[in-house]
Amino acid sequence: MSQYETVCEQLKQAPKTWLVTGVAGFIGSNLLETLLKLDQKVIGLDNFATGHQYNLDEVQGLVSVEQWAKFKFMEGDIRKFEDCQKACAGVDYVLHQAALGSVPRSIADPLTTNATNISGFLNMLTAARDAEVSSFSYAASSSTYGDHPALPKVEENIGSPLSPYAVTKYVNELYAEVFARTYGFKAIGLRYFNVFGKRQDPNGAYAAVIPKWTAALIAGDDVFINGDGETSRDFCFIENTIQANILAATATDDAKNQVYNVAVGDRTTLNDLFNAIKSALNENGVEYSKQPVYQDFRAGDVRHSQASVDKIENHLGYEAEHRISKGIALAMKWYVKSLKN
Ligand SMILES: NC(=O)c1ccc[n+]([C@@H]2O[C@H](COP(=O)([O-])OP(=O)(O)OC[C@H]3O[C@@H](n4cnc5c(N)ncnc54)[C@H](O)[C@@H]3O)[C@@H](O)[C@H]2O)c1
Repeated sequence: MSQYETVCEQLKQAPKTWLVTGVAGFIGSNLLETLLKLDQKVIGLDNFATGHQYNLDEVQGLVSVEQWAKFKFMEGDIRKFEDCQKACAGVDYVLHQAALGSVPRSIADPLTTNATNISGFLNMLTAARDAEVSSFSYAASSSTYGDHPALPKVEENIGSPLSPYAVTKYVNELYAEVFARTYGFKAIGLRYFNVFGKRQDPNGAYAAVIPKWTAALIAGDDVFINGDGETSRDFCFIENTIQANILAATATDDAKNQVYNVAVGDRTTLNDLFNAIKSALNENGVEYSKQPVYQDFRAGDVRHSQASVDKIENHLGYEAEHRISKGIALAMKWYVKSLKN
C-alpha cells in the first residue's frame, strides 16, 4: 500500500475538517471532489475572480448527497482578513490555493496580483495561525526557480524571479519561513509545475497552454506556439497534485516548514505536447489537420523546466502515479465531453 493510500484510508476512518481556498477554481474544485469522496468535511472560500460556480456544480454531480452535505461554501475574499478568519474557524487542515495565476496577467496588472497573492496570502497565514489549525499547505510555484539554469530543479537552488507573479510566489515562501521562525507556525509550500486536468479553464486571455490548445483543436481554430516549440515543461496531472496536497496536510512535524516540488520529473517540449494532445483528441473523435502557428517568445517565460521530485518522494512518500500521457488521455476525454457540442 502506498503512503497516499494509507493516508486516504486513515482519513476515511477519522474524517477531518478542511479549508480549501480557491475552491471554485481548477485545482481547488479537484481537491474538493477528492476530499468529499473521502467523506471529509470541507469549507470552501472563493470570490469567483477566476473560479466558477459551474465547477462546484460539477463536483456536486460527482459525489453523493450525503458527501455534498459536508461541504460549506463561503463567498469571500482573501484580501479581507475577516473573511479569512471566518473561513479558518474550526478547521484542521488548510489547503490554500486562492491566488491570481498567470505570468502575463501579473505583468499586465501587478497591483491586483500583489494584493491577492501577497496580502491575501499573509491574511490566510495569520488567520490560520490564530485559529491554531493543525496544518497549512499552500500553492507555491515552479516560477520561483526564475532564471536559475540548472535542470532538474532542486528546491534549494533558485534564481531571480522573471515576473511579478514569480515575486509573489517567492514572497509566500519567505513569509511561511518567517512564520515558522517567529511564531513556530510551520507551513508547507508545494511548488506546482504546470498542473493540468479536468476543469482547468480554457477561456480568457490568461488560460494555461493545455486547456487553451485543447479548446482551439476541438473548435478547429489555429493553435499558437510561443517561440520555436522547443520550450519544455514538467507537466503534472491534477491527480498527482491532489496526492501531494493530502500528503502535505497530514505530514509529520519534521516534514513541515519546507517547500516541495510537485511534478513528475519529466520534460515535454511544446511541440511534443501539441502532438500528444492532437492524437489523444483524435482517439476521442476530434480531427485536426492544421499545423501550429509559431509566434514570438513570451516575456517572463523560462525556457526549460523539469523538477527533481526526490525531496517530496523521500519526505512525504509521494509517487507521481500519472505521467503525462496517462494524464492527457484522461483530460482529453473530459474536454471533449465538456466542450464539444
Ligand atoms: N495551474 C497551475 O499550473 C499552477 C502552477 C503553479 C501554481 N499554481 C497555483 O495554484 C493555485 C490554484 O491555481 P489554479 O490553476 O487552480 O487557478 P484558478 O484560477 O483556477 O483558481 C484560483 C481560484 O482562486 C480564486 N481567487 C482568486 N482571488 C481570490 C481572492 N482574492 N479571494 C478568494 N478567492 C480568490 C479564484 O476565483 C479561483 O477560483 C494558485 O495559487 C496558483 O498560483 C497553479
